[in-house]
Amino acid sequence: MEKSWWKESVVYQIYPRSFNDSNGDGIGDLKGITNKLDYLKELGIDVIWLSPVYQSPNDDNGYDISDYRAIMDEFGTMADFDELLSEMHQRGMKLMMDLVVNHTSDEHEWFKQARSSKDNPYRDYYYWRPGKNGQEPNNWESVFSGSAWEYDEKTEEYYLHLFSKKQPDLNWENRKVREEVYETMKFWLDKGIDGFRMDVINFISKVPGLPNGEKILGKKYVSGANFYMNGPKIHEYLQEMNQEVLAKYDIMTVGEMPGVDVEMAKQYTGENRNELNMVFQFEHVDLDSGPKGKWDLKDLNFHDFKASFTKWQKGLEGVGWNSLYLNNHDQPRMVSRFGDDKEYWKESAKMLATFLHFLQGTPYIYQGEELGMTNVRFDSIDDYKDIEILNMYKEKIGESDSDHQQIMESIYVKGRDNARTPMQWNDENHGGFTSGTPWIKVNPNYKEINAKQQLTDEDSIFHYYKKLIQLRKQHDIIVYGTYDLILPDHNEIFAYTRTLGEEKLLIILNFSKENSFFELPKEIQFSNKELLISNYEVNPTDSIEKITLLPFEARVYKLFI
Ligand code: NOJ
Repeated sequence: MEKSWWKESVVYQIYPRSFNDSNGDGIGDLKGITNKLDYLKELGIDVIWLSPVYQSPNDDNGYDISDYRAIMDEFGTMADFDELLSEMHQRGMKLMMDLVVNHTSDEHEWFKQARSSKDNPYRDYYYWRPGKNGQEPNNWESVFSGSAWEYDEKTEEYYLHLFSKKQPDLNWENRKVREEVYETMKFWLDKGIDGFRMDVINFISKVPGLPNGEKILGKKYVSGANFYMNGPKIHEYLQEMNQEVLAKYDIMTVGEMPGVDVEMAKQYTGENRNELNMVFQFEHVDLDSGPKGKWDLKDLNFHDFKASFTKWQKGLEGVGWNSLYLNNHDQPRMVSRFGDDKEYWKESAKMLATFLHFLQGTPYIYQGEELGMTNVRFDSIDDYKDIEILNMYKEKIGESDSDHQQIMESIYVKGRDNARTPMQWNDENHGGFTSGTPWIKVNPNYKEINAKQQLTDEDSIFHYYKKLIQLRKQHDIIVYGTYDLILPDHNEIFAYTRTLGEEKLLIILNFSKENSFFELPKEIQFSNKELLISNYEVNPTDSIEKITLLPFEARVYKLFI
């Protein structure tokens, strides 16, 4: 397997709006990030992935871009950006930017031109279609509820928007669109940035003819995902992008790809395919959704969880590369979702971190995860800001069998604003995020959960993450070792080994609130062992043949043959 810096790195994701506000307007900004670089250096991360900071009317918090080469006013100026990049590089950190090119904002100059007349040269930058019998051109549903088409009075046609109506989809069939994107990428790469996270990049190739999705009784709009996820020209476009841009720089790339499976991921990330380094797949974060999608709550089946991770670990081994994440700005907080955010808050946050950082792949930490930040429950729908939540609420509350409390429950469990409450820096007003009024309320638990407290407490989740990151730097096997699941049928324990040459790691994790019994499989032989990390006090010399694990206990041993 080839060695690469991006395989050895730990990435930290910043959602700038919620990270740190330096000027008291209630919105996080670039200077705010620069002011916190020493905190991130202390944590030990290598790369920052910055969610979009470009000019945007903020219909979807920056994922609707109106100018790819300008900084959003609320976030600061290009000089602030240059300063951030240079301060990061001085500290040996790299910067990965978000690239959002499946769609632009409807306030982007290209779209303003495009909608002005049917024969405008920019018209074909987007998908425009006449209606069919006074209806939308097809029955596709937007990811943010309702139709994926918006009628435009002026030219009497519809345009396609897979996300909000302020996010029209770009037409990648048009060579000019692709060239504009490549030039934009070079603009940022020539400034010295170190990579791109590519937003829903497997949506850019649509099936020609844009056929109807399968009819569902009683539903007007249905998923057209089969016709735009992993579409017919996706590999052609990515290889072209690679050849024209990516291959010319020493950078890291990760493609966000809902609906990707392992076989496809081998193609996207295969070492000699010249596409991307890795993808964000969604299988493990879809396991707790029912057939009606993310708001259709379902209990997580632990065996499915183990099987899914194992499939991805074994599938990409020696072929491509995994990205490892349990939360981000679109997902609920991992300790609330996969752990226990009450009695075993600290133990389960550390256990989940151990799980992720010892898998093969590049780990991604989402801001506040290193403090064990949790989901939030706001009483009023008015305290929520996310367009996905608000659109869903509006749609569902209008249905005849609607139940306000049930909708709120699904928001508490799955809503994206769980991840977007301000970073909790200290126990002062608004968790130290802003001296003004924050754009979204802080989680009321900031008095107990905050960075200031955890920096001074050696036993904190923060210090545990720091140790995990250091271990990765000290042991090649954590990055490059192969993965094998052990005890596949165990109901509470997720245990696996990593192997590199003569070395082996044994990772033992109790995913439950109860004590759980572990017995070492006979085939794992060793003469000596070293305890690398654990989330409870453990006597390193205790035998490991039989262990009664405490709730959410995690242990990692290095075994010597
Ligand atoms: C995925 C992003 O992560 C999400 O935040 C955004 O709403 C959609 N893509 C649309 O850009």
